This record gives sequence, structure tokens and C-alpha cells, in this order.
Amino acid sequence: GRYQKGVRHLCESGVTKVPTKYILPISDRPQNGDDHNAANYGLRLPVINFAQLQGSGRAHVIQSLTRASEEYGFFQLVNHGIESDTILNMIEESRRFFELPFDERAKYMSADMRSPVRYGTSFNQKMDGVFCWRDFLKLNCHPLPDVLPFWPSSPLGLREAAVTYSKQVKFLYLMLMEAILESLGLVETTTTTTTPHEEGGGENGNLKEFEDGSQLMVVNCYPCCPEPDLTLGMPPHSDYGLLTLLLQDEVKGLQIQHGGRWVTVEPIPNSFVVNIGDHLEIFSNGRYKSVLHRVVVNSSKPRISVASLHTRPLDWVVRPSPKLVTEANPRRYKDTDFAAFLEHITSKEHKSKSFLESRK
Ligand code: SIN
Ligand code: FE2
Repeated sequence: GRYQKGVRHLCESGVTKVPTKYILPISDRPQNGDDHNAANYGLRLPVINFAQLQGSGRAHVIQSLTRASEEYGFFQLVNHGIESDTILNMIEESRRFFELPFDERAKYMSADMRSPVRYGTSFNQKMDGVFCWRDFLKLNCHPLPDVLPFWPSSPLGLREAAVTYSKQVKFLYLMLMEAILESLGLVETTTTTTTPHEEGGGENGNLKEFEDGSQLMVVNCYPCCPEPDLTLGMPPHSDYGLLTLLLQDEVKGLQIQHGGRWVTVEPIPNSFVVNIGDHLEIFSNGRYKSVLHRVVVNSSKPRISVASLHTRPLDWVVRPSPKLVTEANPRRYKDTDFAAFLEHITSKEHKSKSFLESRK
């Protein structure tokens, strides 16, 4: 359609008004609600110190992890050990990708959720009645040798930057998952950890099952928007997987639902924003929360973010861990799998219902 070329293209063509296709009904606009300052209300998320998690402070950090996962569904990860060059390269090569001529980017358009690479615009272009102010590049990262040849060959440094970045983020994910399983009482307490454990964890199995899981990297590009109060970069949604590790540059934009309102996550330099996804809420039988979040745009600074979504292999049947289903806390969710997720996102009937709600 007419807007397939995306918002970066619109921005470059010098629009001074948001086209109708992007204008949300008043009730869905970012400044709507009882609290008109909601968008300006900054939130310091709980901070998890990764270095301490790997050392003698582990027990204490795991307590904070539990509280953050129960009360916010979100936390910021600092001292993560990923070199700043790895992060800067990833952001820089992503920026270059979105600066390529449209025809070059368009080669990577695909409607297939399992495609190794998908370039596109809005949120769910086929289903969105109103479009979002966002262009994206999605890179499937697993198994790497199979997907890598399909990743964009330009800009020249993108593949290498994305490989390095994705491997390091995967390591952080595994370490966090191990700590989370421990916090849920599903594995033995460990003191120090430098490599994924051979035993313990999983759905009673081991962390190896997580190593083989899916990893989807979503690079988001939110160009300046002439009328940011009329639209959103991403609509309210929760993430489907176990954990998402998000890298945002210094420009704000991410808001989460907390205490009944939308609050802005204040960026902390050199950190990751980590959030609990639907699969982990289900797996934890509701103890940890997959929280709604959205992205607001602004008129002065373009924003880039890189979300890395992790879960078990796509054929995994997700259900509450048997150890977390008790008489006092009966099972709260139905079995679900990737097929159910695909059906959900392509079904008009479920439009107003989050995936998680549909699994209760
Ligand atoms: C997301 O919800 O995955 C993206 C968040 C962001 O761009 O900050
Ligand atoms: Fe998200």
C-alpha cells in the first residue's frame, strides 16, 4: 500500500503533519488518560547488577530479581560485561541499514514469521487499523549458521556486528534465566557461575534446553515525528517469549504500565532493559508478570532500539512448571505453543485481547 515505504521514508519526504493512517483515536493517544503528565513521569526501574550476580552478592541480587519480576515485570541490567564497542557497532550498523535506499531495504520484506530476516513498518502491518511510527528489521538468530547467509549483506559491517552482539546477549540471557529458575526455586542455589550449567533448571530439565532456544533480534527505528501526540511508535503489547533484553540509545520512548498508568523508563547509559515475557508468566504460573509496554515518539530526536527476544524452541509447549502448581496456587494457564501464537496475531477476533489473556 501507500505507506509500505515506512516512516523513515515519510520523514525524509518532509511531512509536517502525521498522515491520517497514523492518527490514533483520542482514547489511544499517548497523552490521554486521567493523568495528563503520565508521559513525563519518569520511573527508575529496579537495577540488577550482573557482576554481583556472578559473584558473592548472588543471593542478594536474586532477591532483587524476584521482587522486580513480581512487581514491575521489568528491570535494568548494569555491569553486564558487554563491551561498549559491541553495543556501539550494533547501533551504528543498524542506523546505516535504515539509511540504505528503500529498494535495498525492501529486498528483506517478508510476511513469514519464520523468515531469517524481515524488514517492515508499523507493528503488525496486516492487522493494524492505524499504523505505528516505526520501521523495523527482524533478524532470527537461531541456528546461526543456517540464518546468517540470509541476513542483509549491506551495510557491510551489519552481519559481523549483529553476530557478535547476538552471541553476547544470548549469554546474558542464559545467565539471567539460570538466576530466574533459581529464584523460582526450580534449581539448586549456586554460588558463582561463568558458564551455563550442565545440570539443573529447565522444565525440570537443564539449562541446555534453553541454549537451543529461539532468539529474535528486533531493530527498531523511530524517526522524528512532526505530531508525536497523535501516534505511537509501538502500541501497548506484551512480549511473547521468556525474556527480552532491550538496548535503547539515550533517547527516551519506552513506557510501561505500572501502578495503573503509563510511565517512562529513564534510560541508564550502558544498561539493558530486561522484561518478563508471556512464556515466563505462564511458566511461573503467574508469579512473574509479563507487563504491557508501548513506545512514544518525539519531534526532535530519532531513536533506535534493539530488542532481543528469547524463548525455548518454537515447538515448545508452554505450560506452568509442575513444581509451581500447588493446591494453594492452582494452574492458571492453558497449554500453548507457537501455532496458537500465530493464530492469535492473525485473528481479528482476538484483536482487543492480549495473547496472555487468551491463554487463561
Ligand atoms: C519493544 O517493545 O520491544 C520495543 C521497545 C523500545 O523500542 O523501546
Ligand atoms: Fe516489546
